[in-house]
Amino acid sequence: MGTPWFGSNVKMALDRSATAELVECARSFSERGPRVLVVSAPFLAESVESARGSALRIGAQGCSTELRGPFTGQVSAWDIAAVGCDFVMVGHAERIAAGETLDDLAAQVRNARAAGLSVLLCVGELSESDDPTDVSDLDEQVTRAMDGVIGEGDILAYEPHWAIGENGREPAVAYVATRVSRLKERVGSGCTVVYGGSVNPRNAGELANLCDGVFVGRSAWTPDGWRSIERALTGSNHEMVGREKA
Ligand code: PGA
Repeated sequence: MGTPWFGSNVKMALDRSATAELVECARSFSERGPRVLVVSAPFLAESVESARGSALRIGAQGCSTELRGPFTGQVSAWDIAAVGCDFVMVGHAERIAAGETLDDLAAQVRNARAAGLSVLLCVGELSESDDPTDVSDLDEQVTRAMDGVIGEGDILAYEPHWAIGENGREPAVAYVATRVSRLKERVGSGCTVVYGGSVNPRNAGELANLCDGVFVGRSAWTPDGWRSIERALTGSNHEMVGREKA
């Protein structure tokens, strides 16, 4: 089974050489467990090339709600697939803040699927919930964006918007535990559910043990940062379960 799922969305934070370095680093860990990088659109093709021959999966930070046509500045899911990407991330908090709606997410998911890509869908609440056991908000996001179908290679990233980025607040472990376990109950235990938002080397092991792994921003953007998270995931329950099974 190996260590938990570990991925990073690099947003618009990394230039070309920093992206290339991170791909090399992530690639070297890709036999430990699922490893995923979501890179800037101009670097997708070269990142796919660098990851070739390894288990590292490369994805795009979104796609157009259209597949082809007069849509200047947008990126078609077909073109993302053409350069060899595995998946498209849809619904990141920063895209929602930029105005994307659930209908937009649904159109992106449809297009990703039409292009043969998997989907990494981010779901999360805008502010801390008074009743974390009530995941009907997350359920609605999954149902509407995915049209009720979660494909085999798809990933659900539970990312509370209020926990993300420089101004994010690290959530209590018990809060995340409740949310992800309820979400898993709704979507089925076979679906991969990971947690993202203020993950760092100190909390990564514990948070990964609550679900299938961690989706990390700032803390994973350098090779040193990436390796620190890898160390934090070593000895996780996932790995122990894998060993017991072996
Ligand atoms: P963060 O970002 O780890 O820097 O909080 C997480 C994300 O945006 O997915």
